[in-house]
Amino acid sequence: MPFSLVSAWNKRRRSKSHESFDQWTYKPLEYWQLNDRSSRFRRSNCSLVFTFKEMEEATVSFNEKNLIGKGGFGRVYKGTLRNGEVVAIKKMDLPPSKQADGEREFRVEVDLLSRLNHPNLVTLIGYCADGKPRFLVYEFMSRGNLQDALNGSNNVTLEWPVRLRVALGAARGLAYLHSTSAIGVPIVHRDFKSTNILLSECFEAKISDFGLAKLMQEDGDDDVYATRRMLGTFGYFDPEYALTGKLTLQSDVYAFGVVLLELLTGRRALDLNQGPTEQNVILQVKNMLHDRKKLRRVIDPEMCRSLYTTESIAPFAELASRCVRIESDARPTMAECVRELQLMLYACLKE
Ligand SMILES: Nc1ncnc2c1ncn2[C@@H]1O[C@H](COP(=O)(O)OP(=O)(O)O)[C@@H](O)[C@H]1O
Ligand SMILES: [Mg+2]
Repeated sequence: MPFSLVSAWNKRRRSKSHESFDQWTYKPLEYWQLNDRSSRFRRSNCSLVFTFKEMEEATVSFNEKNLIGKGGFGRVYKGTLRNGEVVAIKKMDLPPSKQADGEREFRVEVDLLSRLNHPNLVTLIGYCADGKPRFLVYEFMSRGNLQDALNGSNNVTLEWPVRLRVALGAARGLAYLHSTSAIGVPIVHRDFKSTNILLSECFEAKISDFGLAKLMQEDGDDDVYATRRMLGTFGYFDPEYALTGKLTLQSDVYAFGVVLLELLTGRRALDLNQGPTEQNVILQVKNMLHDRKKLRRVIDPEMCRSLYTTESIAPFAELASRCVRIESDARPTMAECVRELQLMLYACLKE
């Protein structure tokens, strides 16, 4: 992100930090007035409630050997439930100053994810709020997150057809969230990034982490929401959101474009180990996406050359560049991204 945007973001954050966060206070399902729609779209298998003892047993007392990740919310353990099901258990582990935010995220995640049902969204199996500790229990995604997979953490290179399928799966998940078919109102994810795309054994993509998600207002401006607090992750911030504070579904499209660039180049969205001009993947490649010769230079060299052609990658690069346009209106919708990626995958499999 250019420096001016970062400083605008910081300035906004500083000036708004005193404001009330009442839009974040926990609201029960009834608050969203989904009434009959909520029951129509409610998952048949509602989230299970676990005790602390069950969480301890599942992870062998949170044994470090079962630790599979660490994130903004806390630690993630691989665990086995009493019925033998292998799961991922996220344990809230926050300093006291961040616990109120953590609690809000926990409740949004439980409230929302137990009502969503799509093959490209990670399944919430249940939760534990037994006393003070908080746990979220998810289906276990054996290939971990996309960012690690792109960095070759499993000693498996993601080849071009697999990357296309991952992009399409993630696009489908986001398009479902943005549509009203999820719970009756569009949902903006707000923290879409490569570490929040998890991969199953057969590299099927599923979106995770809904703690920052926001239901868009139905009345008035139906897909714009003025936020009082900037939330999200550096490297994926929609510049329009950073400048105006207006959250739209198109903010997710921007973040999706950044992930497409990560898939294309194998680079991180933001890599602080690089020099100042090479830290941000968008700034680094955006002028190279429309020229075939330059495009060849940015394609991830880890991918097997015989499994793609520059011609087949060009429409993908072009879509990525439209998703990361500064003006949100100029970006495609997620439904359009799904259609285009479907055509690309179809063409790739025919080759
Ligand atoms: N359901 C899951 N299955 C497998 N691994 C997971 C699962 N959920 C999270 N993880 C792993 O734990 C890591 C930390 O998760 P998280 O707390 O969501 O932080 P972040 O999204 O910032 O990486 C993820 O990046 C992923 O590698
Ligand atoms: Mg995550």
